[in-house]
Amino acid sequence: KKVSLTGIKPTGEPHLGNYIGAIRPALELTADYESMYFIADYHALTTLRDPALLRQYTRSVAATWIAAGLDPERTLLYRQSDVPEIFELNWVMSCLTGKGLMNRAHAYKAARDRNEEAGRGDLDAGVNMGLFNYPVLMAVDILSMNADVVPVGKDQVQHVEIAADIAGSFNHAYGSSYRFTVPKALVPAADDGRTLPGTDGRKMSKSYDNTIPLFLPSGKLKKLVRRMPTDSTPVEEPKNADESSVFQILAQFASEEVTTDTRARLAAGGVGWGELKNQLFEVLDEQLAPMRERYDALIAPDSELDSILAAGAAKARDRAVPVLREVRAAIGI
Ligand code: TYM
Repeated sequence: KKVSLTGIKPTGEPHLGNYIGAIRPALELTADYESMYFIADYHALTTLRDPALLRQYTRSVAATWIAAGLDPERTLLYRQSDVPEIFELNWVMSCLTGKGLMNRAHAYKAARDRNEEAGRGDLDAGVNMGLFNYPVLMAVDILSMNADVVPVGKDQVQHVEIAADIAGSFNHAYGSSYRFTVPKALVPAADDGRTLPGTDGRKMSKSYDNTIPLFLPSGKLKKLVRRMPTDSTPVEEPKNADESSVFQILAQFASEEVTTDTRARLAAGGVGWGELKNQLFEVLDEQLAPMRERYDALIAPDSELDSILAAGAAKARDRAVPVLREVRAAIGI
């Protein structure tokens, strides 16, 4: 079986964008792929400096995977930090990665652009080496498990391409002794090249503070949905569904039939944004409620979560240790 692998960075509570872009599509691959899911806790350290929060978000991401349907018996769930081989391979791959490749990575370029816009003389202000090296560590996450496919949202595709480049560099240098699988990104078809918008219309992202967390209590979920901005088109006027963030989220969760019907009703006029928001809340609440219950049980301090992660750590190392043995031999260490 081919291997599918994906990860989530615990820098906040998992949100609808993570679910649509990565969690749901990744879990759909379980039947056809040997599937691996992990929590990229060391990646979070590039921005998160609060130990209690890092621990909380890490458990929260793990509980989210299981609540959303991950079966720890049939698939692999682990914490990145439990696999020390990843960090050893990170050094090896850093030495095989051109600095120029990292200069072109989106997250680093975005940080420089922000500094330029703010008129700062030092375009690297606030950039730590962890942020700069982020794509190498992500490549190693993927390569250490020799993943064939990486289900991710569109914003992570460049990172997977970088991982493929780095695999190529290793294979070019040492391919006669050991070859890494060259990975491919799998972007969900339903994404149609777009990322899920957040409560302000921009891409839903923890760094924009515009997320709808997956497992909010019903009342809070309703409040967040009701607070989403809409234009001032009067109730009776026709509305373009595709320009509405509320509709775009609805389309990812409602059935195709309901989506088509809602699009037509909006176009005909007579449906107000308030009504659309109520519909979105109902659809979300109905789908998320059963998962939320499992999540709440798993997030409790004495749940089975910790033993699931411990078992996952052992299985993940069983895969990574032999890879590192081969790599050391190949490079002459
Ligand atoms: P992260 O934690 O930012 O996001 C996790 C996954 O959710 C997707 N996603 C979205 N998809 C659609 N619409 C959105 N608004 C949206 N927001 C987030 C992301 O594309 C991602 O698939 N660097 C990664 C974590 C990582 C990783 C890896 C992933 C580390 N190592 C190895 C795959 C393989 C990240 O920060 O994702």
